[in-house]
Amino acid sequence: MCGIVGCIGRDDDTLDILMGGLRSLEYRGYDSAGIAMGPSGEVLKRSGELDALEDALETTPLTGTFGIGHTRWSTHGPPTDRNAHPHTDESDRVAVVHNGIIENYSELKAALEADGVTFSSDTDTEVVPHLIAQALDQGESPETAFHNTVDKLEGSYAIAAIIDDEETIYAARQGSPLVVGVDDNSTFLASDVPAFVDHTRDVVFLEDGQRVIATPSGFSVLDETRQPVEVDIETVSYTADETGKSGYDHYMLKEIYEQPTSLRQSFSGRVDALEGSITFEEVEEIPQPDAVQFVACGTSYHAALYGAALLRERGIPAEAYLASEYALSPPPLTLGTLVVGITQSGETADTLAALRDAQSRGVTTLALTNTVNSTAARECDHALYIRAGPEIGVAATKTFSSQLVGCNLLVEKLADSSPDLRPLIESLRDLPGDVQEVLDTSGAQTLVDEYGNSDAYFFIGRGTNVSVALEGALKCKEISYEHAEGFPAGELKHGPLALVTPETPVFAVVTGNDERAQKTLGSIKEVQARGAPVIAVTDGQSAAAEIVDEILEIPETHQRLAPVLANVQLQLFSYYLADALGRPIDKPRNLAKSVTVE
Ligand code: AGP
Repeated sequence: MCGIVGCIGRDDDTLDILMGGLRSLEYRGYDSAGIAMGPSGEVLKRSGELDALEDALETTPLTGTFGIGHTRWSTHGPPTDRNAHPHTDESDRVAVVHNGIIENYSELKAALEADGVTFSSDTDTEVVPHLIAQALDQGESPETAFHNTVDKLEGSYAIAAIIDDEETIYAARQGSPLVVGVDDNSTFLASDVPAFVDHTRDVVFLEDGQRVIATPSGFSVLDETRQPVEVDIETVSYTADETGKSGYDHYMLKEIYEQPTSLRQSFSGRVDALEGSITFEEVEEIPQPDAVQFVACGTSYHAALYGAALLRERGIPAEAYLASEYALSPPPLTLGTLVVGITQSGETADTLAALRDAQSRGVTTLALTNTVNSTAARECDHALYIRAGPEIGVAATKTFSSQLVGCNLLVEKLADSSPDLRPLIESLRDLPGDVQEVLDTSGAQTLVDEYGNSDAYFFIGRGTNVSVALEGALKCKEISYEHAEGFPAGELKHGPLALVTPETPVFAVVTGNDERAQKTLGSIKEVQARGAPVIAVTDGQSAAAEIVDEILEIPETHQRLAPVLANVQLQLFSYYLADALGRPIDKPRNLAKSVTVE
């Protein structure tokens, strides 16, 4: 989704900092970009990738000592130069960048047009510079004009504005992420920390309703009644190095290969192999719930399905809900229900809406998230961090693995009486090595030569391997643009089997040798009878390897952790397929890393 950057207090490198910041936010997904510099008020914006803006800057350099920049992910109006941000008023005194959706923009636009204002874009954002300019015309100071304009907005927004020749950046946050970076000489604004982590790791995480007034001599934070607020400056732990590609061709590949480390981070200090115990300092006091409802989107929803299945196995009623459906038709719950939002970013609008709905019904909420101080982490009663480290590729990889580990730990924390956890903990401690073995020995890349021209790719599994099948298909379709679907294996015969042909390889995730694995062997036979080649992702405990065309082998592990290993094989297949097809793997078309609109 849209990315905002801002910088004030530097002398001659502001433009470079803004462009570097926009580059660091590319992972959020965008289709146009622009910059406004002050005090000159010059604006340059281009549809397409940042390279187009960079080329334009070579012929039309911007001058100024402070500025704001934006990467736009289209909502209102197509990705054109005129719809790109920053947007300005008719006399170019005000420039504004915005992330989110201004829900009452139609009324505001109609009123402005009735006053004779001419709009030059299709965006909701453009009402903001016109409203500020109108207030300036009425004699308001720039700061008052900004506040009065923000007071009129409904919906979600992070906004940054520069006004006339004031040496100030004005910003506001309501429902969309906005953070402030601070060093001795300058103030940075951004949608996310990587935009300025090259320059400072000292960060203020703004709350909804807060506004920022930044000048060359510092910044102040105000609440929505315009009263100053004392804020904490926190030092984030990650470095610019962690947010770079470290020699990999793509962030996605880097993040796949980081999994041994990220998984270790997820459980280290939280498990005791000798005692067989699990501790989280963050969530020690959560009472045992009557039931658990998970809310999540996309990959995180697949982790939620897995978490719910584990809880049910441990005797706790649990369901996973797509967050985009939950808030609109909330399922019944009792006051003893725990609602868990699984969200890598902690900023997904649908998930936040579902969590807010649950909170409004008086139940306890928990965010299982990767992002410290994200909105979900701050708004929920409890936050449990998966500690996977920054994930930049739009396709979630290492965070999914860590979400599965997080679910395992959480389940045992919530369950009434635990069985002997030592086998699980020992397997957890072996998991980074097992993932490394998959990475070192995987034959996923060679499968692309054989099956890279197929009509479609199907993924099947049962039990917790349904999550892996759905996730394998999501990864495949989002980065390769090939048709890919995941199904619970038992559902094949109820419809999807009609799609199966010799040109549709089927990836069957079969781990262990229980009744589910045995039944999945039957599903394999069903698709083989229709001529489909079958690739088993298997630990070799069942007879799957003996009956299929190809094998992606995983080491034997605790059955609850086998899905983590199987999923790594499917991540690698999707990556190499997309790479062979020349897709822009880290920035798939139409997708955004952090989906901050409902
Ligand atoms: C998965 O590869 C996608 N990036 C997407 O499905 C993602 O998982 C979804 O948008 C939810 O994001 P979140 O975990 O940040 O809430």
